Amino acid sequence: MSEPARTLTAAISGAGETAPANDAGFLWDFWYPAIRSSAVRGNDLVTAMLLEVPLVVGRTSEDRAFAMRDSCPHRGIPLSHGRFDGKTVECSYHGWRFDACSGQCVEIPSLTSQDKLKIDRVFAGHHPCEERDGYFWVYMNGPGTRLPEAVPDAPTLKTFSEKYKITHLECELPSHIDHGIIGLMDPAHGPFVHASWFWRKRGSIHEKAKQFEPIPNGFRMSPHTPSSNSAPYRMLQKYTGEPVTTTIDFVLPNMRTEEIRSGKLWFSSRATVTPVRRDLCRIDFVAAWNLLLPVWIFRSFAEKFLRQDQETMVQQAEGLKHNPRLMLIDDADRPAKWYFGLKANLLEARRTGQPMRHPMDGPVTLHWRS
Ligand code: FES
Ligand SMILES: [Fe+2]
Repeated sequence: MSEPARTLTAAISGAGETAPANDAGFLWDFWYPAIRSSAVRGNDLVTAMLLEVPLVVGRTSEDRAFAMRDSCPHRGIPLSHGRFDGKTVECSYHGWRFDACSGQCVEIPSLTSQDKLKIDRVFAGHHPCEERDGYFWVYMNGPGTRLPEAVPDAPTLKTFSEKYKITHLECELPSHIDHGIIGLMDPAHGPFVHASWFWRKRGSIHEKAKQFEPIPNGFRMSPHTPSSNSAPYRMLQKYTGEPVTTTIDFVLPNMRTEEIRSGKLWFSSRATVTPVRRDLCRIDFVAAWNLLLPVWIFRSFAEKFLRQDQETMVQQAEGLKHNPRLMLIDDADRPAKWYFGLKANLLEARRTGQPMRHPMDGPVTLHWRS
């Protein structure tokens, strides 16, 4: 199922032809959300998969999040079948024990005093792991590559007051990550996929002009007053009597953030599309706000939205099985072209060690109808 995505990538970036045959089109050396914090209680060992890497995730008795490769370095049995005492993970097969936070072996029960094996040189696969905004984030350095000397900080959702509400939603898409992402940034499907009384109607489609600017590893829809055909924005403006501004950023590898502000009121959200396997990705959506908006009302709208996107992606995956030719058109698909450009240029910069070239020359205004 990755095939169509790769063809599309190749068509846009020209980078596909040289990629190894088994290249799944993932971006390594970034943080990805693996699972929700609420999925891990006490000494649970919980499995997750990121970029086709099986992981076992947990929290030590000192509350430190950890992520190991879910595979014992001795014979490969998943470590998640073993036991965790709050500090070390014991393999279920021969009882080797590993420090959960470093992956370092601390005991091999079968060794005798005659054995020369240095157990502290034995390591289980291991990734940096941090808990933020209600997720276990895992830094996925590529297979066979070392961690950078300074691993960057894990992403954090921006908030603008001490008290706020926060909620999380997720949904799986049977798609390659590239299709998940270009679906996320696609402005033209709104009136068709999300048509409803509270959002947009087909009849309200009108021409829009939005300014975009390059930012490191991504692009920004410059701060603007949101679309007048969206009821929630109209209500907000009425309530505060102050202008509403929205800033939307996309940054590699997979993150769209949106900030809406009006006077003292704010709403901040982040959607990430995370590759689980080459034919499966997951949208993790977190939103925080200090508006007088009950969580359950927001969730009922957001769940409907996500379900509509999910149904569309399920239908699209059916079509993509037959490897159709695809198109990206101007201007509505220009953000998708930038995504492919950013991805290709990042890989090129990593390969050559040269600074990364940004696919945008500078600010640009795009026009579309939605
Ligand atoms: S397979 Fe894990 S200890 Fe042998
Ligand atoms: Fe959508």
